[in-house]
Amino acid sequence: MTLIEWKEQYRLGVPEVDNEHRELIDLINALHASMAESDTNVTVLDFLGELYARVAAHFALEEKVMRDNDYDEFADHKTDHERLLDDIRDLMDDYEDDVRVDVEAFGKRLDAWFSEHFRTRDARLHKKIF
Ligand SMILES: [Fe+2]
Ligand SMILES: [Fe+2]
Repeated sequence: MTLIEWKEQYRLGVPEVDNEHRELIDLINALHASMAESDTNVTVLDFLGELYARVAAHFALEEKVMRDNDYDEFADHKTDHERLLDDIRDLMDDYEDDVRVDVEAFGKRLDAWFSEHFRTRDARLHKKIF
């Protein structure tokens, strides 16, 4: 069961970045799939924790590139990153507070966020810097 589908429109034409984005999507899907397998012990909280760590690491890398290059839209780009990380954190809080977490609905939101972010912010960044 695939949570996020790689789409051709995500491709930025920068192999390293495209690979990293693809790896991120693969990892999200693998974690999500392992949650459904009864013999593994991946819980929603494990999934969200790992997701948060990987996404944060990717963002940190991009933000370093932006800072090192005095990128003109650094603040806006970083704000958009924070928005997704906040979303993941809110969901973890909900889960810990026993609020029902709809992973499928969250998957759709992740998908929408990545589509938009790759297509706009990351595409501009990589056109300017790489
Ligand atoms: Fe990115
Ligand atoms: Fe980004």
